[in-house]
Amino acid sequence: MADAAELLAQIRIHGTIPRHVAIIMDGNGRWARERMLPRPVGHRNGMKSVRAVVEAAIEAGVDVLSLFAFSAENWQRPAVEVSALMSLLEEYIQREADELERQGVQVRFLGELLLLAPAAHAAVERVVRQTAHCTKLRLNLFVSYGSRAEILNAVRQIARDAAAGKLDPEQISDATVSERLLTAGCPDPDLLIRTSGEQRISNFLLWQIAYTELFISPVLWPDFGRSELFEAILDFQKRDRRFGRVDA
Ligand code: FPP
Repeated sequence: MADAAELLAQIRIHGTIPRHVAIIMDGNGRWARERMLPRPVGHRNGMKSVRAVVEAAIEAGVDVLSLFAFSAENWQRPAVEVSALMSLLEEYIQREADELERQGVQVRFLGELLLLAPAAHAAVERVVRQTAHCTKLRLNLFVSYGSRAEILNAVRQIARDAAAGKLDPEQISDATVSERLLTAGCPDPDLLIRTSGEQRISNFLLWQIAYTELFISPVLWPDFGRSELFEAILDFQKRDRRFGRVDA
């Protein structure tokens, strides 16, 4: 693979930067198993990749970076692993909050945050408040998130508004739904990356990725860094996005 600086130069020559990049970070467990280490060590190394990818997204000029850190289904993992992930989340916030603010990263957490342990929840609220004024990159961290639940909540709100006579069912549009999702106000992802070679969406941003370009990387998340993100963006730049239309 070419070195990161060279890849970044190529991205800049081409010019079309995806505004919103979403990533399903996968493969921490396999990375640890390959080294005969406990799974939480894989997650800890995955945290380093989060740092590298945030910096690389800023360098490339991406506006929004969405990372799937913990799914609604992940609560069913063994208690030791769930608790290791929660501690890691707190540690990440503690260690990175000032640096994220310095870099101009506005951090948001999207998901069922009330299910988080009180200390993790407090840390989340702290970093969101601390970075609310930042404008360089919006970092959406999806924690305790499931896309179907998100869509169901939007549907319930719409049904309630329709039943109360506040919304005409004939006027319900894409925007009616989008405005009621956790990502309201955010452009849809242009590029969705999944690491570790798995070819699944796993209940991530089902509504929002209708026309998103997919990039499956064979690299396990703890080995994913600047160069790998730049490779994915370069690949995206070669795509012909037609949104269902034909070329003129
Ligand atoms: C998937 O790998 C990864 C996760 C469930 C957790 C993602 C967490 C991190 C990258 C670190 C913490 C992040 C932040 C933002 C603090 P897996 O365990 O499913 O891997 P496997 O499929 O190889 O078992």
